[in-house]
Amino acid sequence: MPLDRRDLDRRDLDRRALDRRAFLGLAAALALPLSPGARGATAAAATVAAPLRRTIPGTTEALPVIGMGTSGTFDVGKGSEERAPLADVLSLLLRDASNTVVDTAPSYGNSEAVTGDLIEAATPPHARKRVFLATKISTSHTNAPAQFARSLADLRTDTVDLLQVHNLVDWRENLRWLRQLKEQRKIRYIGITHYRDEAHDQLAQILRSERVDFLQVNYSAGDRNAENELLPLARDRGVAVLINRPFQDGNIFAAVKGRPLPDWAGEIDCNSWGQLFLKFIVSHPAVTCAIPATSKPKNMADNLAAGHGRMPDSRERARIAALLA
Ligand SMILES: NC(=O)c1ccc[n+]([C@@H]2O[C@H](COP(=O)([O-])OP(=O)(O)OC[C@H]3O[C@@H](n4cnc5c(N)ncnc54)[C@H](OP(=O)(O)O)[C@@H]3O)[C@@H](O)[C@H]2O)c1
Repeated sequence: MPLDRRDLDRRDLDRRALDRRAFLGLAAALALPLSPGARGATAAAATVAAPLRRTIPGTTEALPVIGMGTSGTFDVGKGSEERAPLADVLSLLLRDASNTVVDTAPSYGNSEAVTGDLIEAATPPHARKRVFLATKISTSHTNAPAQFARSLADLRTDTVDLLQVHNLVDWRENLRWLRQLKEQRKIRYIGITHYRDEAHDQLAQILRSERVDFLQVNYSAGDRNAENELLPLARDRGVAVLINRPFQDGNIFAAVKGRPLPDWAGEIDCNSWGQLFLKFIVSHPAVTCAIPATSKPKNMADNLAAGHGRMPDSRERARIAALLA
């Protein structure tokens, strides 16, 4: 589907009209290491300009286009040494915007419990209210209630914003149960997820036949299969889209290793490959939010910067994709 600027809705255009100097200040501050002084600078800078947000179709609720995943990165023990950088990662995310997506799953080892602990302990306080919390059902419908009860306990919350059927496990029955939870106002939105191109046909069939609020799927500058059918379909059906594996689990960086960032990256306010790859994703008009995972504050700051400044148009998106062709 050809993309152009007219595809971006008016609200987004307004938000993109950032003062360029303010954006550059933010980007520079976000790139600083997280010494105590730099943390202050980052917090101050982050109030300068709000990131781009996208509205969940059919609602007035908007999500910042950069959220965070927790697979692998948040699967750590209780030691303060391994948790401290993750607390910084979360703090950066919370300071950049409110209602930011944090995506986890009961099958990600300790990730739900670590996410719950760190949200409860986060600065600024009351972080739970600032997070759009998404988790999944990764088991058959008979075990789903017990699994969800454990998720809520681990996440230290009595509700999540989005509950998704993970990798289409027992999807028919699980979706039926998720709908009941939504009717009972125990969750706010329901969704389905997968992370492999091979599942895209089935995801498309489900989008055509079922009502879901969110689709979570793999898409990146180096893996564009979702563009063919799924993303346009989600847009037509009024389904919000979260993008997983935005860096192909980190492998996308290997494809550009040793190559200098193209000169024109600055024209779309990018000063890293990560920002270029994320802006490619979030400038697709069907995409609501990308959820890159990181264990490093420096990379979180880098990722957040992709939610600010000018976004690529269709010509510039093609240019980014061509770098990986
Ligand atoms: N079926 C599903 O529902 C499903 C499947 C897959 C993923 N997901 C969700 O999607 C999230 C994201 O996918 P993912 O975790 O598979 O992979 P990803 O976000 O594509 O890549 C993560 C990798 O990229 C690195 N990275 C992050 N930011 C970077 C930056 N700015 N510069 C350089 N390297 C950077 C991370 O390393 P560092 O830690 O060193 O930064 C990590 O190795 C998951 O965490 C999960 O929440 C869902």
